[in-house]
Amino acid sequence: MSLLLTGAIIAGACLLRSEYEKVCLKLKTYVIENDKIPASFDGVRIAVLSDLHNKKFGVNNEELYRYLKAAHPDYILSAGDLITKTKPEETGDVAQFVGSLTKLCPVYLGNGNHEIKLRQYDVPGLGVTAYDRYVRHLQQFGVTVLADETAVIERDGESICVTGLDLGLEHYAKGTHVAMKKGYMEAKLGQAEADKFHILLGHYPNYFPEYAAWGADLVLAGHMHGGTVRLPGVGGLMSPNFEFFPTYDKGLFTRKGSAMVVSPGLGTHSINVRFGDNFPEIPVIVLRKKK
Ligand SMILES: [Fe+2]
Repeated sequence: MSLLLTGAIIAGACLLRSEYEKVCLKLKTYVIENDKIPASFDGVRIAVLSDLHNKKFGVNNEELYRYLKAAHPDYILSAGDLITKTKPEETGDVAQFVGSLTKLCPVYLGNGNHEIKLRQYDVPGLGVTAYDRYVRHLQQFGVTVLADETAVIERDGESICVTGLDLGLEHYAKGTHVAMKKGYMEAKLGQAEADKFHILLGHYPNYFPEYAAWGADLVLAGHMHGGTVRLPGVGGLMSPNFEFFPTYDKGLFTRKGSAMVVSPGLGTHSINVRFGDNFPEIPVIVLRKKK
């Protein structure tokens, strides 16, 4: 067998495997312990959506809805990129699906780079941007969008904070890490309340040190798509920003009392590949009050 034919067979097998992985949804549970978690939030379940990029699992995303329902979430939070910037005409379907999730529990969305880029597209005849139209659509369903904003979530007289960070697009430069300016987080979001458990929807995980220093107790991130191709013993090969062997590719990371869960996301864009046990995933966070 010629080398060329062997190569073609291997490439074909890898592509088939990728097509298989792209449709196999998984739930993955993470237990997050912190002494700032109030007693009334002990055992609370948070399902995380990220990087859907307009993908549909079944007709009208019925399969994704079924998986989310099976996770028994008390809250659904999004770490961003549920849409794809180049397809603003498809945001209506995404908003409708996300809106349907409010039947399960309250839903809070942070923005990824794709949502932020939607602000550059005007909707002809309406005098609004594609982002404004998307957010209005979501809000009609009762979804809370947190664009550099904080929501206080209460249970039985106790509360935690959830903040969505609109990370400036300059931080998403391809193939390089742009240092975050000192005071950037505080200028965007104000000070985090030190005595409250604080969840940050921070789409780009590479700024975990800055998020933690700001006061995030738990960061929910995405963007990396698990590193696209995962290599045994190594991890993710490449982020969508063409960062090779990214540190924060997927899973749980900790730093000085803060935790970060990086979702491998649900869909793809541009590089339409998932390979090497890089399945679409819904992280399910279980909060535990540290005794
Ligand atoms: Fe992203």
